[in-house]
Amino acid sequence: MADTMQGLKRTHYCGSLREEHIGQTVVVSGWVQRNRDLGNLIFIDLRDRSGIVQLSFNDKTDRAIFEKASTVRSEYVLMAQGTVCARESANKDIPTGMVEIQVTDLRILAKSETPPFEITDSTNVKEDLRLKYRYLDLRRSELQNRIMTRHKIMKCVHDYFDDNGFIEVETPMMIKSTPEGARDYLVPSRIHQGKFYALPQSPQLYKQLLMLAGYDRYMQIARCFRDEDLRADRQPEFTQIDLEMSFVDEEDVMTMNEGFIKRVFKEILNVDVQTPFRRIPYDEAMNRYGIDKPDTRFGLELVDLSDLLGGCEFKVFSGALANGGSVRGINVKGAASTLSRKEIDKLTDFCKTYKAKGLAFTRLTAEGESSSFEKFLKPEEVAAIRQRMGAEVGDVLLIVADKNSVVFDTLGALRNHLARKLNLIQPNTYDFLWVTDFPLFEYSEEEGRYMAKHHPFTSPKLDQLDRLENDKEHCYARAYDIIINGYEVGGGSIRINDPEVQTKMFHALGFTEEQAQERFGFLLNAFKYGVPPHGGMAYGLDRLVMILTGTENIRDVIAFPKVQNASELMTGCPDYVDTKDLDILSIAVVPPKEKEEKAE
Ligand code: AMO
Ligand code: AMP
Repeated sequence: MADTMQGLKRTHYCGSLREEHIGQTVVVSGWVQRNRDLGNLIFIDLRDRSGIVQLSFNDKTDRAIFEKASTVRSEYVLMAQGTVCARESANKDIPTGMVEIQVTDLRILAKSETPPFEITDSTNVKEDLRLKYRYLDLRRSELQNRIMTRHKIMKCVHDYFDDNGFIEVETPMMIKSTPEGARDYLVPSRIHQGKFYALPQSPQLYKQLLMLAGYDRYMQIARCFRDEDLRADRQPEFTQIDLEMSFVDEEDVMTMNEGFIKRVFKEILNVDVQTPFRRIPYDEAMNRYGIDKPDTRFGLELVDLSDLLGGCEFKVFSGALANGGSVRGINVKGAASTLSRKEIDKLTDFCKTYKAKGLAFTRLTAEGESSSFEKFLKPEEVAAIRQRMGAEVGDVLLIVADKNSVVFDTLGALRNHLARKLNLIQPNTYDFLWVTDFPLFEYSEEEGRYMAKHHPFTSPKLDQLDRLENDKEHCYARAYDIIINGYEVGGGSIRINDPEVQTKMFHALGFTEEQAQERFGFLLNAFKYGVPPHGGMAYGLDRLVMILTGTENIRDVIAFPKVQNASELMTGCPDYVDTKDLDILSIAVVPPKEKEEKAE
């Protein structure tokens, strides 16, 4: 039988005790981090969410209590009363290290089996095992601090937007499926057999309807669901700080949000952020960094070599150009000694994962030069490349030739990879920028048509409305993304508020009138009744927390995250359900094997 708490009430959190408490009688509670039994002395480190304090038992301790203390093991739950005393050998590594508690009453409130891994801060236990026992993993102070910081950030969100007149409105979780980029998670309806709700990918349409309804400024910390391939900064269910404003233009939305970023960085990190943030149009971001969310804390900018190489003999280059592609490179300054041939081979493999066919290089070492491609070029072409790239002895030139999308993807990723590999990023520095003027459309090879790059409600630039039909490639959007340290932390746009333009937009996206009516009829109808000009944006809260807590793993900032294959290791979901539950929904599961056979 475990002890009870009877007669004791916690007076302090473990981590709060300091020299000023010496002489006081206190009651603390928590989990056993560590116990050391030295025969005539026992020390127990007791941990709660605030930190650790040492409990001490010695020859002055009541014998029964001393004996009880000797039975204590890691992760037992204790409550202890005692006197705060100065510690003989102070521990400077922990905030409570100057004191200890000489225990006069000890309760073992719960025992614990030996946990599958030790609960310590720096751990090299595999993440899968930690996620299976997430409740134990969550005891680690590293994670507890992140989760607590997340709470503080959410509080700051509410405070800031409330101060600025935003109203939090909850929007439904079970909604009509509307195409917005990713695949929907579907929820079958029992009452309407054969019909499905979708979980929202974002509250986009509802917040626009709230503007139409006159709410003027809306915000919500909203859960969103997207069935897409997961990455280090993506989860199937994630959280947005979602907001929308009426009677505004791009400047208004951006200024309001710069204010928010300024406030949250001050409150959480005590960092003073300079506003306004730099703004880079999308096309410039792509040309200079190969990516629409550039990390501009380091150089390694892309250099376009296309115009120098149109007529060259090297088929890799001229072929890419003839196919409408480009040849671009990065000069890795002073890296010739670090980037050996072997390292460059590794970089080539890295590039191939981005569909590049190869990576051309020139190494300019003091001892001499080596190049994979210069032998195929005329001396004046080599000279022109080197000049354009500002090449000097000690540099490494890395070049990719392909269609533009591959060149940008590859070099954009290579640039980030090199910066980490070569330690070009100063720790604890933050880089804020807006990427603006996104293209309105994006051609999807898969769908064989133009899709909305952002979503179908984003307004085109007002002077480019005619391009909706005739020049989709050059039609730009009133959209903006906020980028911090190379992460797309948020994005938004000024919306279409003219029903005629919205109809044109659906048409441009290839919806017939009937399809548009069927999918978005409610919106088009609503738009007949007076829509104010409006716009807004949404942050990925998880990503913001990642940046503010300094981790590159989104799972580190979510209490119960999912892994790469969208399952949750602790509860083991998704899982099969009883056939009778499916029968009620009139759903039958076709086993994967049968499905394959049918397809053949
Ligand atoms: P968007 O799709 O750009 O815009 O999403 C906004 C922000 O949400 C974050 N995000 C994610 N975070 C974690 N896991 C994911 N799977 C994931 N997907 C997106 C990103 C992104 O910038 N309705 C619009 C916003 C608007 O126009 O107001 C929207 O959802 O940080
Ligand atoms: P090859 O003649 O195919 O051996 O190519 C010579 C060099 O060009 C090698 O270093 C290749 O890695 C490189 N290369 C091949 N394809 C590309 C490409 N698409 N872009 C840049 N370099 C490439």
